[in-house]
Amino acid sequence: MVAKVEPFHAMAIGRLAYELAEGGRDVIHMEYGQPSTGAPAAAIAKAHEVLDSEPGGYWENIALLDRIARHYDDAYDVKVDREQVILTCGASPAFVLALTSLFEPGARVALARPGYVAYRNTLKTLYLEPVEVACGPAERYQITAAALDALDPVPDGLIVASPANPTGTIIAPGELAAIAEVCRRKGIRIVSDEIYHGLSYTQSAQSMLQYAPDAVVVNSFSKYYSMAGWRLGWLLVPPNLVGVARARMSNLFLTPSVLAQHAGLVAFDCREELEGHVEVYARNRELLLAALPRLGLQKIAPPDGAFYIYADVSHLTDDCLALCQQLLRDTGVATAPGIDFDPVDGHRFMRFSFAVSTPLVEEAIERMVPWFEERARVANAAAR
Ligand SMILES: Cc1ncc(COP(=O)(O)O)c(C=O)c1O
Repeated sequence: MVAKVEPFHAMAIGRLAYELAEGGRDVIHMEYGQPSTGAPAAAIAKAHEVLDSEPGGYWENIALLDRIARHYDDAYDVKVDREQVILTCGASPAFVLALTSLFEPGARVALARPGYVAYRNTLKTLYLEPVEVACGPAERYQITAAALDALDPVPDGLIVASPANPTGTIIAPGELAAIAEVCRRKGIRIVSDEIYHGLSYTQSAQSMLQYAPDAVVVNSFSKYYSMAGWRLGWLLVPPNLVGVARARMSNLFLTPSVLAQHAGLVAFDCREELEGHVEVYARNRELLLAALPRLGLQKIAPPDGAFYIYADVSHLTDDCLALCQQLLRDTGVATAPGIDFDPVDGHRFMRFSFAVSTPLVEEAIERMVPWFEERARVANAAAR
């Protein structure tokens, strides 16, 4: 039987945004989770140089493997051998490698709900069973060690993301250690999505490797490095999985693009430019958090990292897709509907991405305030 996979509804919003823009509408894109900035200037310059001088065949950049391995030592004080790093075409295929290397069809994998839409759908595509654990504001929308420990039957695996999409919340170090301990005790294999590392505002994110040396870690150049379209990422596996995961990469995807691998190595050391982006996001986050009361959106978990705010809009609707579409048609501000992240409760939520420029965040707030005020007036009148 062919696996059933749900659509990504933010894409429908993106399509509407595109149609409106084609008709001359001035659209502010807060629906997609991607930086509006490009790759670091030095990385682009390197790509130009490579394009003019190299044939560009199948290739694995050993210097990039070394650089990534060194990053774990520098950032987390964890020793990693470059053999454990597998270059991928972004985090998305890294999940395919991770999940197929760890689990047999039918295995049960726990994850927080809400969570990144592709976790659920990738699991289903690979004939694995998502075990979604409802997480609310009390847990800051993150899975806890206690909730994991209480699962019966014990799942085979766990996907964690800290900072997370759609909420941006970070799992505190003590809790991450406790989750690792439950997994060790119960034999639960961990896949840790660390794609938003580097983008944090309240505390820096820890790597799961600091607590679970046999965790499989997924990362990418799409977010902090501002290189989503270059399609470059990596998977980090324990030594006993290197052969299994590498065989999958070379058979399913061969290698990431040569240009991306060269550019990625340069991007690793463009800290000043990249930290400049983080400063912009930090400012955008502050502006949006300050504006939320004016929008009447009080129920959120303030994001520690990433570039998202996931807001409860249940006082306005139980059809977030319609709400997002109407907001886009009326104001030109595109946002993502909560149903992408949570098939059960997500119809009462929406996600704002603040990875656009600060003037666009300011403009979006100005457009949204009167719109949300009007919606609240209509909803209140209907409730009376
Ligand atoms: C949490 C999370 N993981 C993975 C991905 C996929 O990233 P990539 O572009 O590296 O495939 C995304 C993309 O938005 C994401 O939000």
